[in-house]
Amino acid sequence: MRNRIAVYRDEILESNCYVIYAEDHKCFVIDPNNIDAILEYTKGYEIEYIGLTHEHYDHIAALNALRKITDAKVICSQVCSERMQDADKNLSSIFKVQLHFMGKDPDIVVEPYHCEPADITYTESFAMEWEGIPVCFFRAPGHSPGSAMIVFDDVIFVGDSLSLDHDVIIRKRYGSKDDYRKIVVPFLLAKSQESMIYPGHGKNFRLSQRITYLESIKNR
Ligand SMILES: [Fe+2]
Repeated sequence: MRNRIAVYRDEILESNCYVIYAEDHKCFVIDPNNIDAILEYTKGYEIEYIGLTHEHYDHIAALNALRKITDAKVICSQVCSERMQDADKNLSSIFKVQLHFMGKDPDIVVEPYHCEPADITYTESFAMEWEGIPVCFFRAPGHSPGSAMIVFDDVIFVGDSLSLDHDVIIRKRYGSKDDYRKIVVPFLLAKSQESMIYPGHGKNFRLSQRITYLESIKNR
């Protein structure tokens, strides 16, 4: 994909928000995490769509604020849409604890947070064309029940389903190792190893850099 992609890494949440720019001053936002940063990054552009990789608070923290000031359509899996409406399921109710473990300022307050349902939802997958680019959303449970991959041509936004420098985090309470092995791993192994991976946290990388890791899970 030739389009410019910008990443904003939030200092507190440590999550990545991505903005994909088109030539006609339209843009596509993925995982809105910080409203001020997004407004800065999208100055002079119309946000047409907001795609979500999953329901966790660090990936939706600016969604409500953004929806108040734009007409952007929100796209995510049906399960993500349901779970982001619940402060326990989107983890905002316990996010202060998470920030504590991340070594953040103990005075940071995270209020329980919930969102309205998404505008466009899907059960397994959803395909569209945006600015001449094929865009596909695929359900990818494992890290969380509502997780998805968002594929723009040869670029894959994976949320927390793959990272360059650590194993995928799958908590017993809401994640599923079995789903990850049966759904996410084969999906990624079927993609071109040249695909560029844009994760929910950390640096982007080529899929080829994580093939050994994915193969090891497949064979477990
Ligand atoms: Fe997550």
